[in-house]
Amino acid sequence: MESLDIVIVGGCGHVGLPLALSFADAGYRVGVDDIDTAKIERVRAGEVPFKEAGAEQLLRKLLPTGRLEFGSEPAMLERADTVVLVIGTPIDEFMNPSVTVFDRVVDELIPHIRPHCLVVLRSTVFPGTTEGVQRRLHAAGLEADVVFCPERIAEGHALEEIRSLPQLVGASSTNAYERAARLFEPLGVQIVRTTPREAELAKLLTNTWRYMKFAIANQFFQIAHRSGVDYNSVLGAIRNDYPRAADLPGPGFAAGPCLLKDTMQLSAYTPDHFPMGQAAMQINEGMPNYIIDSLDAHKPLAGRTLGILGMAFKGESDEDGREVVDIWGITGPIRL
Ligand SMILES: NC(=O)c1ccc[n+]([C@@H]2O[C@H](COP(=O)([O-])OP(=O)(O)OC[C@H]3O[C@@H](n4cnc5c(N)ncnc54)[C@H](O)[C@@H]3O)[C@@H](O)[C@H]2O)c1
Repeated sequence: MESLDIVIVGGCGHVGLPLALSFADAGYRVGVDDIDTAKIERVRAGEVPFKEAGAEQLLRKLLPTGRLEFGSEPAMLERADTVVLVIGTPIDEFMNPSVTVFDRVVDELIPHIRPHCLVVLRSTVFPGTTEGVQRRLHAAGLEADVVFCPERIAEGHALEEIRSLPQLVGASSTNAYERAARLFEPLGVQIVRTTPREAELAKLLTNTWRYMKFAIANQFFQIAHRSGVDYNSVLGAIRNDYPRAADLPGPGFAAGPCLLKDTMQLSAYTPDHFPMGQAAMQINEGMPNYIIDSLDAHKPLAGRTLGILGMAFKGESDEDGREVVDIWGITGPIRL
């Protein structure tokens, strides 16, 4: 069978597919490996299973070139010297990272990974995962180069951002760094070298920082609202021609799956469980209840059904709302 330049494990996902398209567009022969066979069939037929600007058009342009191949078996990895792992890295119902999911997948892949392969971890991972994967491969007799190259795109803008955001490369050797830098070179982005642990933390801290900015905005809103003040008016006054406060976000349902999940990963990583992150979680995830309680105080809601709009957080996204609803354990309209 013809060799491939790259195989992307989790290649039909929100991160994997835009990356596969970008690499194929840059000239690579890309194998898209995904266990979700229904998604594979849709993509093979030219349909992108989620909203992503320009992706379907690019997919349809690339399919006839033969530079994209699809499969659901890890045996595809035997055809490439570079493997990118971008499977989901969820937190469990106790808000702890499910690190065993990642370990299990790596163990399943090991028999199919070529010796001296470049293994690029792109999922957002618990700090130390890259070193752990390196050790697992080593123990299995594979002298692979394992690097952590986090994805930092915003859904819906992936194709544009993959080609514009600097790419962090967390590598523990110069050889591994150079191989990863060469991989991303055709995308024309700036490459920033760090150690694996630095890149893992950089990704978690970036998302946590964003989550905490939303939390302080929501806390400010609650303070103003509780004292009977119109917060929109306060916010307008704060931001008006005052650059140092221009980045104070507006209040609202914050999160999406990644911001909460990654703040909680950081909390699990930290000996004191990151009190500021916990506070941010309580504020952000408590916003729907805050609003319901406020409405209830205004006019009792017992026996009524409330629909909450805007929980998707990001406009024009078909993913985040569903996952936030799952995390909260709300399966339908809230009943009081
Ligand atoms: N979605 C985002 O905007 C975003 C941005 C940056 C980073 N991330 C991170 O990227 C990672 C992936 O997120 P996503 O949103 O793409 O998730 P996703 O659920 O959309 O995609 C993951 C894909 O992996 C596939 N998969 C799972 N196990 C597999 C296996 N053993 N073999 C092959 N395929 C397998 C799934 O079928 C799915 O298609 C997560 O760690 C996430 O935190 C996501």
